[in-house]
Amino acid sequence: MAILVSRLSKTICNRKIINHVSLNVPAGSSLVVIGGSGSGKSVLIKCILGLMLPDSGSSVILCGHEVADLHISKRKSLLSRIGVAFQANALFDSMPIWKNVAFSLIERGGIDHKTAFGAACAKLEMVGLDKSVANLFPSEISGGMQRRVSIARAIISEPDILFLDEPTAGLDPVTAKLIADCISDLHIKFSMTIVTATHDMPYVNKLSDFIAVMHSGDLVWFGKQEDAKNSEHLLNFKRAAQIIN
Ligand SMILES: Nc1ncnc2c1ncn2[C@@H]1O[C@H](COP(=O)(O)OP(=O)(O)O)[C@@H](O)[C@H]1O
Ligand SMILES: [Mg+2]
Repeated sequence: MAILVSRLSKTICNRKIINHVSLNVPAGSSLVVIGGSGSGKSVLIKCILGLMLPDSGSSVILCGHEVADLHISKRKSLLSRIGVAFQANALFDSMPIWKNVAFSLIERGGIDHKTAFGAACAKLEMVGLDKSVANLFPSEISGGMQRRVSIARAIISEPDILFLDEPTAGLDPVTAKLIADCISDLHIKFSMTIVTATHDMPYVNKLSDFIAVMHSGDLVWFGKQEDAKNSEHLLNFKRAAQIIN
């Protein structure tokens, strides 16, 4: 298993945000977490990554390591095997696109600019962006292109596990499909384990081996996509999202 989550809870200011969630993701498969706004998808991802500390009694095992028990140096090396594209892209405005993409390589040191530039351009190409954008700044490209840049940055070190928080949110359907296709290609090409939080039903249909449905911090359904057809919770979610499928 690439990810093993057991009894994960998270309380913020006396409010239970995540309530006893248990799920697992086999290596090389894709889990899509769906649920309405505020249902706890982003907090769940942050707890799995160790960016938020879950309540005591929770367990998250990533690539065989209990995240909370890892010494900072080991945690760093574990996180180097993990790529994350955040909901709001979180690009550095003052850096050109190529530096945003190669940021972690440059930070780690021991790499010259020419090599870092080449590595960034290779990843930009993988997400369907021409290297002519490499020297532009984030404000000079469209929202869909920024989303691709954040995905290129997340895959710069060809991670074992890729976390994507709302990769298609706010994009027009054509751009959303391009991004879903691009992630699907990466999934197939690198056999990456992928965890995505999304509202986007076409994306769910295309990319999920496993589906987790969150509602008010509870995991109300978890299973394989092919077993989801008769899930009442999934149907409710689709109705709530006003998607007839
Ligand atoms: N840092 C925080 N402090 C307080 N409340 C938070 C924090 N992060 C998230 N929440 C609350 O937790 C709930 C779940 O949030 P989130 O995981 O972002 O939902 P979503 O499913 O939309 O990603 C929301 O009610 C949100 O307001
Ligand atoms: Mg969110």
